[in-house]
Order: sequence, then C-alpha cells, then structure tokens
Amino acid sequence: MILVTGGAGFIGSNFILDWLADSGEPVLNLDKLTYAGNLGSLASLRDDARHVFVQGDIGDAPLVDRLLATHRPRAIVNFAAESHVDRSIHGAGEFIETNIVGTFRLLESARGYVAALPPDEQAAFRFLHVSTDEVYGTLAPAAPAFTEQHGYEPNSPYSASKAASDHLARAWHHTHGLPVLTTNCSNNYGPYHFPEKLIPLMIVNALAGKPLPVYGDGQQVRDWLYVKDHCSAIRRVLGAGQPGQTYNIGGWNEKTNLTIVHTICDLLDELSPRAGGQSYRAQITHVADRPGHDRRYAIDARKIERELGWRPAETFDSGIRKTVAWYLANPDWVRGVQSGAYREWLTLQYGPQ
Ligand code: NAD
Ligand code: TYD
Repeated sequence: MILVTGGAGFIGSNFILDWLADSGEPVLNLDKLTYAGNLGSLASLRDDARHVFVQGDIGDAPLVDRLLATHRPRAIVNFAAESHVDRSIHGAGEFIETNIVGTFRLLESARGYVAALPPDEQAAFRFLHVSTDEVYGTLAPAAPAFTEQHGYEPNSPYSASKAASDHLARAWHHTHGLPVLTTNCSNNYGPYHFPEKLIPLMIVNALAGKPLPVYGDGQQVRDWLYVKDHCSAIRRVLGAGQPGQTYNIGGWNEKTNLTIVHTICDLLDELSPRAGGQSYRAQITHVADRPGHDRRYAIDARKIERELGWRPAETFDSGIRKTVAWYLANPDWVRGVQSGAYREWLTLQYGPQ
C-alpha cells in the first residue's frame, strides 16, 4: 500500500480516486481535515476497504511512526499543505507549521522507517513530495517558461513555505539518502476544488448571482492543468522517476485570469443561462490587487515528457468544460463545503457578502 497525506483535499482526493481506479493498490490517507479537507470528496469510497482514512497531522511524529510501522507503505505521497496564497497573506503561521515543520517531521519519520526496512524494500521505497511552480517566482511576459534549473525566487508566504519544504526534501535525499522525488506543478483545476480558488470561486459566485472579483487588471498569467492530468503525472513519477530528481508538470495552457473568467461565464451562459438573458460577464468586478501578486507563471514540462513519456491528456477547452459541468451537477458537494468558516473567509477577503 501507499501512504497519501492530505488526501481529503482537492488534488489528494482526486489522486486517491484515480489511484484506486487505476491500480487498486490500497491507500492509507492521513489528513488533518483543516477547512480545506473534505471527506465528502471521497464519499464514493465509504465502503471500500482499500481506502483507510486516519485524521491526523503530518507533524505528529508518534502518530506517523505508528502508522508507518503498522501499515508498512512502499511509498509516501505528500500532498498535505496549506495551499492558498491569499490566506498566507492574512496569516502565515499555519503555512510555516504544516508546509515547513510538518514536512520536516514527515521526512524524519520516513527516514527512520526506511532505515529499518530490509534492503529490497529500502531500494523500492519512494517519498514523493508534491510542490508548486510558485517556488520559482514570477516571469516577465516574454521570458522562457520555468525549467527544473530555474532558481528559487518565491514571493508569497505560501510559495516561500513550499520552497523551504522542497529544500528540506532535497537535503534529506542528498544527505540522508532518502529516495525523494519532487514535482513542481502549475495551477490545477477540476472536480472537488475548494471554492476559495479562482476557478471554483468564479463558478460558484456566478451561479449565486454574486460579483466575480478579478484582482487588479486581470492580466496575470497562470498555466492551468486539469487535476486528473496532474494525478497521472504523479503516478508516472512515482513509478519511473529517478530519486533525487525534480520534475516540472504543466498543461501548456498559459491564460490570463480575465480570459479564464470570460471562458467560465461563456460556458455558464451556454449550460445554465441567467434568467433575463444577460451574460454572467455582467457580474465581473475588478477589485484591489493581491499584495506582491506574481504576474506570470509558465512551466516547461519537456523533461517529464522526454524522460518519462508523460503529457497532459486534456486541453484547456475540454478540461474547463468538464469542470463547469461537474459544478453544475454537484450542488450538494458545493453546499457541503460552504460552512461558517468558508463564509467568514469570504467576508475577510472580499468584504461583507
Ligand atoms: P488543499 O488545500 O485543497 O488540500 C490540502 C489538504 O491537506 C487538506 O485536505 C488538508 O486538510 C490537509 N492538511 C493540511 N495541513 C495538514 C497537516 N498538517 N497534516 C495533514 N493534513 C493536512 O490543497 P491542494 O490544492 O489539493 O494541494 C495539494 C498539494 O499540491 C499542496 O502541497 C500544494 O502546495 C500542491 N500544489 C497545488 C496546486 C494547485 O493548483 N492546487 C498546484 C501545484 C501544487
Ligand atoms: P488562485 O486560484 O488563488 O491560485 P494562485 O494564486 O496559487 O495562482 O489564483 C489564481 C489567479 O487568480 C491569481 O493570479 C489570483 C487571481 N484571483 C483573482 O483575480 N480573484 C480571486 O478572487 C482569486 C481567488 C484569485
């Protein structure tokens, strides 16, 4: 079996669902269930013995040591993190605790566990650390996309904390010989995405008749990857990646934020038109820019294609259509994550709702 951390979050839950459908190998899912963790995303696995859920913190070393000794996973895939840039601007404490200290503790637990394994299991073990393109900082409009050689220049408290965790993972390989793989991926989108991030927030707000808050001029550029493509890339790296290596993962889909919001509005106009016939674009409002807002991210994903033969399966057009359709078909999931804590966040970030 494998240990997945943060498996109740957006990417982790998609990963577990796809992993079980793909290989059937059992998964131990360790998740703290912060505001971003939602077992509703894994409801289809409720009676599936291949999914074992444990609520807990990656930084709880006695718990993690016990889980490793009991379940003896052949790999750890570390998704657990605080992941929202805007929250990291309001307060970075949890980002330091989980993304840096938590990753350190998890690496230490893995090191102790691997050291005690028989040589063949030691050789086969992998620790895959899931990270982001945001560690590389921001790009000028015509600059080449980030390769794995690009220097680390994180600009937000979130990206700084992820950069620190990447450095720890690297050092635990270099110094301690832990078989670490690191992936740096661009912005994901798709089912089970918590509606505080751009794409699900815009879909959910549009349908609720609320403003669509575009930061600044909306000309910031991100590369977007359909979440299931990220999951297939991680499976590929876990299966065939070289320990000590990092792999950039991206969708070859650079878009401005305004283009993304327009695309969502146009799809909703087609699939769920507003009463009265006006376009959802009428709900777009420009609001104050994010402090320190990175202007552009772009991923050069040629290494993973060349060395591991991975390319995304979805185009942006096919992925965003599936995503909008998923949100229209799953209002219960959306209602389930719109807790009091979610409403408090909207008020803190966007003002009275
Ligand atoms: P998410 O915020 O949706 O989910 C994070 C999960 O981790 C939640 O289920 C949460 O409960 C859990 N968690 C948080 N702290 C924990 C702790 N201390 N111990 C155990 N579990 C804890 O995040 P996501 O978007 O699914 O991202 C997953 C990973 O992928 C993160 O490491 C993130 O940095 C990385 N990443 C995300 C994106 C993206 O676009 N979302 C892109 C590239 C990389
Ligand atoms: P986000 O989904 O938070 O991802 P990240 O900041 O990690 O890239 O934001 C994506 C882009 O959308 C980013 O440039 C900020 C912008 N954005 C808005 O314009 N309005 C919003 O309400 C949000 C949440 C994001």
